[in-house]
Amino acid sequence: MKFSFLNPTKIEFGQGQIATIKTNIPKDSKVLVIYGGGSIKKNGVYDQVVTALAGHDWQEFSGVEPNPTAETLDKAVAIVKDQGINFILAVGGGSVIDGAKYVAAAAKYNGDGWDILTGKHQVNDAVAIGAILTIPATGSESNGASVVTKAATQDKLAFISPLVFPKFAVMDPDVMKTLPQRQLANGVVDAFVHTCEQYLTFPANAMVQDAYAESLLKILTTLASNFDKQDDSWRENLMWAANQALNGLIGAGVAQDWATHMIGHELTALYGVDHARSLAIVQPSLLRNQMSYKKAKLEQMGRNVFGLSDGEDLAERTVQAIEAFYHSLDVATQLTEHGSDKNAAVEAVLNQLKKHGMVKIGENQSITLEQSKAILEAAVA
Ligand code: NZQ
Ligand code: ZN
Repeated sequence: MKFSFLNPTKIEFGQGQIATIKTNIPKDSKVLVIYGGGSIKKNGVYDQVVTALAGHDWQEFSGVEPNPTAETLDKAVAIVKDQGINFILAVGGGSVIDGAKYVAAAAKYNGDGWDILTGKHQVNDAVAIGAILTIPATGSESNGASVVTKAATQDKLAFISPLVFPKFAVMDPDVMKTLPQRQLANGVVDAFVHTCEQYLTFPANAMVQDAYAESLLKILTTLASNFDKQDDSWRENLMWAANQALNGLIGAGVAQDWATHMIGHELTALYGVDHARSLAIVQPSLLRNQMSYKKAKLEQMGRNVFGLSDGEDLAERTVQAIEAFYHSLDVATQLTEHGSDKNAAVEAVLNQLKKHGMVKIGENQSITLEQSKAILEAAVA
């Protein structure tokens, strides 16, 4: 397919690169540093930021939650507007960076920032953003996407705008040393599913995108089988792989799916399931449900990523290999964290999908509410 590709985010990769924010943020900026629940105060990242910003005019906003809420972020929007902030530095994971993107866009809009998520307002301006990534997973550090939750109504929605790409992203793999195993595993799974969402559709003879996606998938399975966050190259490779999985490159010019994400987001909004874990619950059952459309790519993935032998059941064996990969990371592939009444959980997710217009999703729009129901029911343990 035709495509335009531009990724304008400058990457500052490697040990000690946090110091580069000093020169990457214009000297005369009025900066708001946005971060989460305080992990950056325990691992030295905050101190490095303070040192690097010594010559800058800056203030801070903390308390952005995992799965950031508009309710919290709107407080930062008010600060940006009142104080004339013209540069936002996000220091954290996908939640903080996504939150910063919302703040950057909402601060240039006179209405309710939530209008950006519902589509009532199209982003036409945004405050400049820089990012210091502390958890490799989402790719948010160099893409134009943001996912925000309205806690009051349990709506978790996304917006995409070229105006919210960070100007730069600092990726220092040392910051990962304090990540709990659960978050590291989440990062591997999220990056894996991002790659799948852009690869597991139908054959398009896009040799570059396919081969790059397969390399990323192989790298992620290799890192998962050799888990060692104390190893420098392990951390470096994971951080770069997760970034490349969602910086736009492998999805350029090919069909994309994203249905696993759309259904997973509802599980997170309703039950607080970690983002990556919501994906691992939905994806295997979705792949089986959509097998007739995805068979050829599943077979290709089985051969080229998992080294499986040919055969009639190759696509199914590939799904099993994906499940085994998640299980090896202690990530469940069935609904387990969603209250005692699983049928009620399925109904609740379907109601939210309907409310959000997610009634024909996937690369063929073949995942109707009926199919989503079948997918979720098959994921009930
Ligand atoms: O808040 P703090 O104290 O920083 O703790 C965080 C948080 O509790 C902690 N953490 C982060 N870096 C750490 C650390 N703990 C110790 N050491 C460190 N170095 O990890 C927890 C999870 O952080 P979070 O930012 O929520 O994780 P993640 O990066 O997985 O982001 C998930 C969010 O991104 C969205 C998801 O929906 C979810 O809201 N996504 C964004 C995408 C995008 N913009 O392109 C695409 C994704 O598919 C995804 O939807
Ligand atoms: Zn994701």
